[in-house]
Amino acid sequence: MPARKLSTSEAEQLRAFERQGHDALAATYQEFFAPVTAIAIAPLLDAVGLRPGTHLLDVAAGPGKLAAAAARRGAQAVGVDLSPRMVELARRLHPGIDFREAEVEHLPFADRTFDAVVCGFGLGHFPRPEAAVAECARTIKPGGRMALAWWDDPARQRIQGLFRETIAEFAVTLPPDLPQAHNSYRFSDTEEFLRLLRGAGLVDVAVAEHATSYCVPDVETLWRGGLGSCVLTGAAIRHQDEATQKRIRAAFERRASVYQSANGLDLPIAFKVGSGRKPQESR
Ligand SMILES: C[S@@+](CC[C@H](N)C(=O)[O-])C[C@H]1O[C@@H](n2cnc3c(N)ncnc32)[C@H](O)[C@@H]1O
Repeated sequence: MPARKLSTSEAEQLRAFERQGHDALAATYQEFFAPVTAIAIAPLLDAVGLRPGTHLLDVAAGPGKLAAAAARRGAQAVGVDLSPRMVELARRLHPGIDFREAEVEHLPFADRTFDAVVCGFGLGHFPRPEAAVAECARTIKPGGRMALAWWDDPARQRIQGLFRETIAEFAVTLPPDLPQAHNSYRFSDTEEFLRLLRGAGLVDVAVAEHATSYCVPDVETLWRGGLGSCVLTGAAIRHQDEATQKRIRAAFERRASVYQSANGLDLPIAFKVGSGRKPQESR
C-alpha cells in the first residue's frame, strides 16, 4: 500500500517523537525487546555476506546488539542511532565499538565507506524511507551489500499485533502529539520492500521471510515489556485514563491467553529481510 509522503514538518515531528521516545525507553527496550529483535541478527549478517574484516555500518543500532554480533564475527563495525540515550547505552554495553549519534538521512560518513550496511527494525521508524535507504546506499562501496529487517504483518507478528488489536477494540483518543500519516507496516508487504530497494539503485534484490516464536514468561512481562519498548503503543496506552488502561489491560490478557503454553506465552514472530547489492559500476 503506497504511503503518502510526509511533509517536512511532519517528518521533523516524527524524528523528534522517535528521539524523545527512544531516549525514554532505552533501558527497558534493552531488557525486553533487544532479545526479541536479536532473532534477526544472523539473517541480516548472512544477507550481507559478513566476513572477518567486513567494514559494516549498523543503522538505527539501538542498544547495539547487531553491531556487537558483527564485531564478534570479525567485522569492523560502526553503529549510529538518532537517540542519544540509545547511543550512550550501546557504548556502555559494547565499549570496543564506535557508536555515534546520527539521523539516517544524514550519515556522517563519506561516499563509498562501507562494505555493508545493515539495519534491524529501523525502517518503519524513518519518516522518509526512500531518502533513508538512498542515504545508506551512498555510504556503501560499489559491489557492497545492504540488508534491512522489518516486521511482517501484525497477524503473523504477535507482540505488536496483540497490542494493536487490543487498542483497536477501544475508541481511544490518541495523544495530540502522536505523529500523523505514518504507516509502520508498509514494508511488511514484499512488493513494497522490493520497490524500496530497487528505488535506491540496488541490484540482486530479494526479500526473505522468517517466522519463529518467542516465549515470554507471562502476560505481565509482555504488557510491561511492550509498553517499555514500543514508542507509539506505549504513548497511546499511557494517554488513557486509569480506568481505560485497566480495561485495555484486561482485554490484552484475554487476547494473549490464546498463546499460553506450559512455559509461558509462545508468541509467533515473523519478519522480513530485504537485501541487495550496490552495482559495481555505481558511484
Ligand atoms: C525498534 S528500534 C531498533 C533497534 C535495534 N536495531 C534492534 O534491532 O533492536 C528502532 C531504532 O531506530 C532509531 N531511530 C528512529 N528514527 C531514526 C532516524 N530517523 N535515524 C536514525 N535512527 C532512528 C531509534 O532511536 C531506535 O533506536
